[in-house]
Amino acid sequence: MKLKITINGEPREADGVWEGESLLYALRERLGLPGSKNACEQGECGSCSVYMDGTLVCSCLVLAAQAEGREVVTVEGIAPEDGLHEVQQAFVEAGAVQCGFCTPGLIVASHDLLSRNARPSDPEIREALAGNLCRCTGYEKIIDAVKIAGERMEAA
Ligand code: FES
Ligand code: FES
Repeated sequence: MKLKITINGEPREADGVWEGESLLYALRERLGLPGSKNACEQGECGSCSVYMDGTLVCSCLVLAAQAEGREVVTVEGIAPEDGLHEVQQAFVEAGAVQCGFCTPGLIVASHDLLSRNARPSDPEIREALAGNLCRCTGYEKIIDAVKIAGERMEAA
């Protein structure tokens, strides 16, 4: 089947998509967007998080066919053209990136949280990011990064 989809504000098409194919696979393997990571492919780790019509989803659990005609924003679409988004910059500065495998999903999920609440408490951050697993950082630096980014987004 042919997939027609809007990704990061641009209309895109992919040919040869099969019925059982995930949105994650289509993004990475057909549409040249490898930012969303494939770690568990079971909805357990959050590394594949993207927005679909403004809602945070695990793209490994969404069929590419379900995304037909929808608007998808990936981690690549969060950054402005000329640099890093506040959330991305804060993750770097806070040392919240180690192997980086979880980072794209955490960036999208943190962006989602901070779009709704720029000053989340520690428990609110932990709850919002509970679906995003990180094996490296111990999460403290991620929480620091979210707070830094929230302050900057509020001030911007
Ligand atoms: S790869 Fe989608 S939740 Fe882990
Ligand atoms: S930085 Fe390695 S899994 Fe999070």
